[in-house]
Amino acid sequence: MKKIENRMPLIELDEIYKIYHMGDSEVRAADGVTLRICEGEFVAIVGQSGSGKSTLMNIIGCLDVPTTGSYRLKGEDVSELTDDEQAEIRNKMLGFIFQQYNLIPKLTVLENVELSLLYAGLPAEERVERARLQISRVGLAGKEKNLPSQLSGGQQQRVSIARALAGNPSVILADEPTGALDSRTSREVLDFLKQLNEEGNTIVLITHDNGIAAEATRVVRVSDGKIVFDGPAEEAFPAAVPAPGPQHRKAEEAS
Ligand SMILES: Nc1ncnc2c1ncn2[C@@H]1O[C@H](COP(=O)(O)OP(=O)(O)OP(=O)(O)O)[C@@H](O)[C@H]1O
Ligand SMILES: [Mg+2]
Repeated sequence: MKKIENRMPLIELDEIYKIYHMGDSEVRAADGVTLRICEGEFVAIVGQSGSGKSTLMNIIGCLDVPTTGSYRLKGEDVSELTDDEQAEIRNKMLGFIFQQYNLIPKLTVLENVELSLLYAGLPAEERVERARLQISRVGLAGKEKNLPSQLSGGQQQRVSIARALAGNPSVILADEPTGALDSRTSREVLDFLKQLNEEGNTIVLITHDNGIAAEATRVVRVSDGKIVFDGPAEEAFPAAVPAPGPQHRKAEEAS
């Protein structure tokens, strides 16, 4: 078990509330969340639909701001920054992977990955070089000129991983990255994320799939906007749920 206590906290959420008013009723999408995530961790955020997972992820990703509470990313108080400054932090420090890949259909694989580097102010040559490197890192060398529609779902997700990695982010945030993939391809994407974590990348992943969450090093379970469990994956799933393989999937489909 890796020792994480002494590492620097990368993400520090303190008493975070996100409250929506719908007519007379109030939805507490985040209800007093305090959470620390250190460098090098692989955290799975789990919970039922509507429990507040994406709300947390969007706050961590500076895509949304809390109603109250403080958020420090690498020691910097993000809630005090302007929109432009938050956008800059997103580009510099955060890499996003989404369920639907969010690739730009009209751009090639290379252009999609390169686009994420435009904001970094790098010269064109260096952008192309870095993008090519990440594309080959995810096993897609030779597909640089393909359009997303000319790739399988798993390959498109790998392009989005290459795009997330290109900016050399401090944290990779993935909201249901395997949600649209079959079980074998999900496994490949998961193995790739695990490899990135072993290389030192910090990963925060949302998943509905216990088999996937069981492979993270730490599991955070949310319910009604609150953290109801936070601990090692072995404790979250004592009966070690196997990751979804072909047989596992068949059993699910049969039930
Ligand atoms: N813009 C909004 N306006 C009002 N309520 C919202 C808004 N966004 C989210 N909510 C509510 O906040 C709660 C948490 O939503 P959230 O999207 O974080 O859930 P989730 O855990 O990601 O769910 P899922 O697994 O379905 O993606 C839900 O009750 C949702 O209806
Ligand atoms: Mg969600």
